[in-house]
Formats: sequence, C-alpha cells, structure tokens
Amino acid sequence: MGSVEVVAEATVRVEGVPLIDLHAQYLSIKAEIDDAIADVIAKSAFIRGPYVDAFEERFAAATGAKHCVSCANGTDALYITMRALGLQAGDEVITSAHSWIATAETITQAGGRVVFCDTDRDTFTIDVKRLPDLITPRTVGIIPVHLYGQPADMDPILALAKRHGLWVIEDSAQAHLATYKGRTVGTFGVAATFSFYPGKNLGAFGDAGAIVTNDAALARQMAMFARHGALGKHDHEIEGINSRLDGLQAAVLSVKLEHLPSWTKSRRAIASAYDLELASVSGITTPLAAAGLEHVYHLYVIRHDDRDGLARHLRTCGVQSGIHYPVALPFLRAYAHLGHKPEHFPNAFHNQSRILSLPMFPEMSDAQRAHVVGSIGDFCARKRK
Ligand SMILES: Cc1ncc(COP(=O)(O)O)c(C=O)c1O
Repeated sequence: MGSVEVVAEATVRVEGVPLIDLHAQYLSIKAEIDDAIADVIAKSAFIRGPYVDAFEERFAAATGAKHCVSCANGTDALYITMRALGLQAGDEVITSAHSWIATAETITQAGGRVVFCDTDRDTFTIDVKRLPDLITPRTVGIIPVHLYGQPADMDPILALAKRHGLWVIEDSAQAHLATYKGRTVGTFGVAATFSFYPGKNLGAFGDAGAIVTNDAALARQMAMFARHGALGKHDHEIEGINSRLDGLQAAVLSVKLEHLPSWTKSRRAIASAYDLELASVSGITTPLAAAGLEHVYHLYVIRHDDRDGLARHLRTCGVQSGIHYPVALPFLRAYAHLGHKPEHFPNAFHNQSRILSLPMFPEMSDAQRAHVVGSIGDFCARKRK
C-alpha cells in the first residue's frame, strides 16, 4: 500500500471510531507478522507442518489444556467435537438462547436436537437457574457460551452435568484467556472450542479455529475426524472431514498469541474506563462483570431502551456500533419450526432489542473513547429533555 493511501486511512480513523481496528493492530506488530508470513512462504509450509504444530502447542499451554487440535474455524471446532463425542440422532444438547448461530447449527449438523436455555438478563450467559428444567432422558450435553468474553457460571453447570452424566463443551469463541475463579476457560468441560475469526480477541488473517481438551483419546479422535479420518498418510480409520488450520494462519496466530495478554489488559482497562464514564449517563446500562471471573471484553455491550435511535445517533457522530445479536436464536427463522415464543426466553427477548456493542479494541485511544462516551452522553441528555 502506498503512503498516500496510508495517510488517507489514518485521517478517516481519527475522525471516526470503528468498532474494531484490525489495521491498527497489524501496524503495531507489522515487522513480526511480515517475517512470520515470509518464513512460511520460504518453507512452503502451507498445510500442517511446523507452524501448525508450534501453534497447537502454544495455544494448549496458554489455556492450560494438555491437547490442542486446530481446525478451519470455530464452527468446525464445535462440529468436530460433537462428532468425536459420538452424538446420536435425537440426542438433546442444551445451549444458550443468545449466541452466534454456529453454537446451535452444529448440534443439528452433528445429528442432535437443539434445546435452548434462556440467558441471564445481566451477564448475557446461560441462565443456570433454568437449566435443570430442560434436562430430559435424551439430554447428552450442555454447551455454555462465554459470550462477549465473559465466562458462563461454570460451577453449577458442571455440578448439574455430573449429576446427570452429561458432557460440557465450552464455546469459548469469544473468550480467549478469560478466567473463571482464577482458571483460564478451556479446561472446565470435556473440551472447549475457539474461533480465530479476524475480529476475535485472537484473530487470524482469515478463518481459523481450535479445540482444547485434557482427554488424549478425545483429542486423537477429533484430530482424526478433522483430517479425513486419518492420522497417518492414507491410513483412513474412519470417514472424516477436511478441516485444517493452514501454516500461514498458524504463524500469524503464534505471533499474536504473544501479545494477547497485553491486548487483554488493554481491553479490560478500556472497559473499566467505559464503566466509569457511562455510570452516570441516564438510560444506559453498562455490562455486568460477574464476581470471581475475568471478563476479556471481546465485546463491550451496553443496553438502552431506544437502542436503534442511539445507534443511529452514533453513526452521525462517526461512531460505529454493532448488535450481537439482533435476533436471539430461538426467534430466528431457522428455528421457527420449534415454535418458540418470547415468553419462553424472556431475558434473551428483552435483551435482543436493547443491546449495543460499542467500539472495543486494544489500540483504542483515550480520545476515541472520549468521543464515543461524549456522543452517547449527548444522545441521552437530549432524550431526557
Ligand atoms: C459464540 C461463537 N461460537 C462459534 C463461532 C464460530 O466461529 P467461526 O466464525 O470461526 O466459525 C463464533 C464466531 O463468530 C462465535 O462467536
């Protein structure tokens, strides 16, 4: 890219505040990334090879898990895990009513039946109080989602799973390095799945994903299934799929993983500042970080009764916002056949029209945050008149 384009882009950035700024992140570690990519190309290590092995080792260590099985994306990570666990037709899997569709659609793809559980109104994670009522003789597992970077309340989930002999898969796509009671997410359940979609806290330069587990036999089964059912060349023990992390993505991810702790610290500092500065703005509910855990703020999600009006106002101020997600899973057309009604999922229904994700990225400046907070303050002050 020529210098003129760089200057033009930088100007746009100062004037507005994007939801995330991947280019700023790239510029902050450009030399390391460029070297890593050049190395992969020099060695033609495009599929599996040393960069993938190294990343798997490093990522397992970062989560505290014994094994990491990389794959093509976070959706495949869920699908591969459930196939390796031997999900059978008609098996019921309980998951969060408010998440990205990947969490639910993979249950169906793996042959199971999706059972939605409402979310807690304030933490946005699965409502553990409602879980026991959803368990039937067909229930085989629970997939809590560490949504927006906040760990689900794992203790009651694990206790319930143990009582009923269920497996637990942590959907950790949005929660790299988040902790629950001092332990990093990823080793609470039988396995945990991660997405490295570019905008995630640890993001590749394309699609990428991984599964971590402490169970060696499960890791072997998952790796085999992800690689056409073969761990050795032409030794196909079962039919599988092709879901691979490529060498370029692995090399990029290994570089970025080194920076993840400091990026996470920055996200948490920005969230604290937002909390403080928005606390007195009338009409805004800031996100609740539950006690005993470390939220990693993949997204900073506020609520307002006139969410759409606020989003429109922010747009006119040059502030980008997002909605994650505007229609909770049970109310999507994809699940209309289940006949769910708002009163079945009152919290997810309440939140879907009020949530708004504000700009959140480690490189965000104080001036950018001040502009976001000031713009919200103006909107809310005008609403009060
Ligand atoms: C909660 C959740 N689960 C699963 C996924 C799927 O990950 P991917 O987009 O890498 O397939 C995502 C990513 O968007 C996600 O946010």
